[in-house]
Formats: sequence, C-alpha cells, structure tokens
Amino acid sequence: MDKKTSVGTAIGKIILMGEHAVVYGEPAIAIPFPGAKVKTTIYKGNGPVLLDCLYYKGVLSNAPETLLGLTKVIKNITESLGEELKDFSINIESTILPERGMGSSAAVAIATIRALYDFFNRPLTYDELLKWTDVSEKIVHGNPSGIDAAIVSGEKTLYYIKGKPVIPFEFKLDTYLIVGDTGKKGQTRAAVEGVRQFIESKAEEGRVLIKELGVLTMSAKSSIESNDAIKLGESMTRAHNILDKLGVSDDNLNFLVSEALNSGALGAKLTGGGRGGCMIALASSREEANYISSKLLSSGAENTWISNLGVDLVDK
Ligand code: PMV
Repeated sequence: MDKKTSVGTAIGKIILMGEHAVVYGEPAIAIPFPGAKVKTTIYKGNGPVLLDCLYYKGVLSNAPETLLGLTKVIKNITESLGEELKDFSINIESTILPERGMGSSAAVAIATIRALYDFFNRPLTYDELLKWTDVSEKIVHGNPSGIDAAIVSGEKTLYYIKGKPVIPFEFKLDTYLIVGDTGKKGQTRAAVEGVRQFIESKAEEGRVLIKELGVLTMSAKSSIESNDAIKLGESMTRAHNILDKLGVSDDNLNFLVSEALNSGALGAKLTGGGRGGCMIALASSREEANYISSKLLSSGAENTWISNLGVDLVDK
C-alpha cells in the first residue's frame, strides 16, 4: 500500500418508471443523473480510520447507526483484502441530495468502494462492486431490488428486472424531463415496508396494482422506442396515481405533480422511494420545461433540474 491518495466517484440516478413494483419482479426504467455526483477521497494517515461526510466527522468506529451500511462495507472490504483497518482517512463529498430518491446511498457506497480498491491497489471487478453495494443497500433499504446499484454502477439507461441481466437501452426521446425536489426527505425504507403491508393486507388489490405498474413500464419502454412522448407522459401520470394508492406518495408530491400537469406537462409522477423526495415531469420543449420548472419553484419545490432526454441526460 504505497498510494497517498485515492479517489472514487459515482453519479446519481432517476427512476423514470417502475419503482416499488420492481421489488416484486416487475420491470423498471432508470436513467443516470450525472448532474449530481459523489466523490470519495482516501488519504494515507496515522492511527484509527477517520470518516468525514455529510452526517458525521470522526473516528470510523464511532460513526452513527445511520451510516452502518457504509461503515460495514469499509470494514468488510478492508478485511477481505487482508489489509488493516487503520492509517487512512475517508472524505466523502456529495452533490446528490440525500434521501431524495436520487440514489445517494448507492452512489456513496460505490464511490467509496472504488476509492478503497484503488487505495489498496487492487483491481475491482463489476461483480465485486455490485456485491459490496448490495451489502450496503440491504442495510440502508431493507429489501432493495438492486436497481440503484445497477444504474449507479453502470451509468447507462436501464430496463431493469430484479435478478435478470441488466438491459441497457438507448433513450433518444425528443423531450425534456424536469426533476422537482419537494425539499422533504424521502423514506424509501418505510415506503417499501408500507407497500409490503398493503400487499399483505389487501392481497388481490395489491397484486393488481403492482402488475399494472409493470404493464405501464413496458408500455413506457415501447413509447420511448417509438418516440411517443404523449403516451409516455400518460403512463407516467397513471403510474403516479397507482403509487399514491399504494401509499408511497404524500401531499407535497401530489401537489407538485398536479402543478406540473396544470402547467402543461405531458405527464408527472413521484420518482424513487417516495413519501417525500423528488417528482419528475415530462415536457415536449425546452420552453415548456422552463415554464413547468418555474411553476414548480413558485409552488414550493426547493430545487429543479431540467434534462433533455434526447441529448444530455441532465443539465441545470
Ligand atoms: O432509493 P430510491 O429512493 O430511489 O428508491 C428505490 C426504488 C424502490 O423501488 C422504491 C426500492 C427498490 O429497492 O427498488
């Protein structure tokens, strides 16, 4: 171990369609969100391992329970590589808003795993990267479908089905996606558990709603392939209504979704775990996207991002 400094990076993601249903084997579509990034830097030092990140600054072994996913991965990787858990410090900087459905926890894990392997001078295979990310995501989310790990590690638009090989596909639709942040933290773990309870207590209705979400995702894929933005927008709005029925939306998300639709969006829905976090809206031109974005901001969105889905994936 002769390196002094190692850097690992990772980008965020947006789920376009299929969140929650993906946990039950239905497909989902996710796109990379390169406008938001995580950078982990590891420095050689002396003494106990130090961690410096948004939620904590201090000795790794005293890090709070909320960081258990990350600290477990750091400890387990160091041990599995036959290295000692001392004499280095880890600094994590992120522009991915935490707990907003942008894949922050997977990106933090992935940037840190990349930095650690580099610091210890070992090659990192894609399978190892996914395996370690999964260790962290299981602790953070309880029962992750693996979609965050797949999209954040691969950085390509995905049609994802749990347990199946990931299918990248080209997203060349001439439309604009607006991401609106409610400013409220999302609650992926609680939302995933809420859906599980819904399905447990209302099995038939739950099964139908999850299946319908899957059908909407398949239809969204066809709409993207046939450049049918209007149909894609309709599928998005219908998916939002189903997610709301499943209990994973909230008043802020519903309000921003209806504001986007009233401002001319082709479709709008929550994105990611829900119960807070972000929503997305589809617009057919840059001017409409700017208008919807300004409406969202004046309706209480804390921030918005606009992406041209046919060209760049995200610009501010
Ligand atoms: O991590 P988030 O909040 O973007 O949501 C993950 C998507 C879910 O479908 C809600 C959970 C999962 O593991 O797929």
